Amino acid sequence: MLTLFLAIFACAESTLDHGFLQETNITLYVHDYFSGPNATTIAIGNPSDDHWVSDNFGAMYCKDSPMTETADPESDYVGRAQGTFVSAALDGSSSQVVLSLVFETNQFQGSTLQVQGAGAQFQRVRELSVVAGTGEFRYARGYATSETIYYDREANYSVAEWNITMEHYN
Ligand SMILES: *[C@@H]1O[C@H](CO)[C@@H](O)[C@H](O)[C@H]1NC(C)=O
Ligand SMILES: *[C@@H]1O[C@H](CO)[C@@H](O)[C@H](O)[C@H]1NC(C)=O
Ligand SMILES: *[C@@H]1O[C@H](CO)[C@@H](O)[C@H](O)[C@H]1NC(C)=O
Ligand SMILES: *[C@@H]1O[C@H](CO)[C@@H](O)[C@H](O)[C@H]1NC(C)=O
Repeated sequence: MLTLFLAIFACAESTLDHGFLQETNITLYVHDYFSGPNATTIAIGNPSDDHWVSDNFGAMYCKDSPMTETADPESDYVGRAQGTFVSAALDGSSSQVVLSLVFETNQFQGSTLQVQGAGAQFQRVRELSVVAGTGEFRYARGYATSETIYYDREANYSVAEWNITMEHYN
């Protein structure tokens, strides 16, 4: 009985070594440019042709898109959303998303979040998992919802709003 108690106590103590569990909410805006010399989202493999058809099963994309504080692309810079997504449903309804949110300014500078999951391409709001993090976000776990709030078909430019809710130790 005493051994069991000591074992539990030891576990509890090692958890505390990480600091305090806290909840953090972050809202940010990701700006995607799909064409031109300054494109931030590009096709890296497309089974049928090479134009922008993200619901083609097997189509692969890579992105390195700026993140800002508000929907205005000139608003304060936060960092970059970098990663890949692959259209991974036969009917194109979802893509496998693997992203690093790399924070480059303010209190989260140098920290990253790992976001992944099934991005429901035809849904207004997509939900992905926050599976891990570094820096301020070590041991992060949570979820992120995103919605395309602006899309300019002519300019091939879109803005997505992201709300991230997570627990992490600090
Ligand atoms: C974060 O957002 C969630 C969901 O909207 C809310 O329930 C929670 O109170 C918020 N937490 C903080 C610390 O703001
Ligand atoms: C691409 O970016 C460069 C460097 O910021 C800029 O000078 C140029 O005008 C941009 N081109 C377009 C088409 O936006
Ligand atoms: C983000 O949160 C705000 C405030 O709760 C809400 O109005 C908005 O719809 C949310 N957007 C997404 C993409 O979750
Ligand atoms: C937007 O993308 C389409 C299809 O790829 C292309 O034909 C068009 O020239 C692009 N527009 C601009 C402004 O780059």
